[in-house]
Amino acid sequence: MAGQGAPTFLRWEDPIADAEPRLLRLCHRVFDGFDDAYLLDRLPHLAGPSLWLAEADGEWVAFKLGYRRGQTLFYSWLGGVDPDHRRRGLAEELTRRQHGEAAAKGFAHVETRTRAGNNAMIIVNLRQGFHVVGFEVDGAGRSLVIQRKAL
Ligand SMILES: CC(C)(COP(=O)(O)OP(=O)(O)OC[C@H]1O[C@@H](n2cnc3c(N)ncnc32)[C@H](O)[C@@H]1OP(=O)(O)O)[C@@H](O)C(=O)NCCC(=O)NCCS
Repeated sequence: MAGQGAPTFLRWEDPIADAEPRLLRLCHRVFDGFDDAYLLDRLPHLAGPSLWLAEADGEWVAFKLGYRRGQTLFYSWLGGVDPDHRRRGLAEELTRRQHGEAAAKGFAHVETRTRAGNNAMIIVNLRQGFHVVGFEVDGAGRSLVIQRKAL
């Protein structure tokens, strides 16, 4: 099992490209069949990226990645927790920190999209104050729930 030390939380302050290798490793832990291109094609183009991390025993075990999508809209894009560290409040703590930063920077809303079948993420979001504001089907035919929160 992965390290069980108490996690610490940090915001990545270096260029986002420098986070790529460790972030990719974590994405492979978090998401089944993760496609590197999903991250690598988008990461360099994110406006004002914000990356929050949880680290335990020197390893990144959870992350939350978002970016500016408009003058007042922050978009929470991607996040996840290593399976060995789930149900310990890491996703909620990273969400709180992401939203705190976005509010401090003057964003009025945060928005996110989640696959409709992903109860865990949708519940975390609801507990953190998001409301369901829409539903859409993406280009690959996947149903997505749109959630938004006033900061
Ligand atoms: C969704 C995810 C990020 C939640 O991370 P987490 O750190 O385990 O969540 P937390 O511990 O902060 O959960 C807080 C609360 O949300 C709810 N919750 C979390 N996971 C849940 C699950 N699998 N089923 C039901 N409720 C859940 C619970 O109410 C939980 O509180 P509790 O543990 O006291 O009951 C994690 O399951 C994950 O990484 N999933 C795969 C990646 C993913 O789907 N990312 C989102 C799309 S980008």
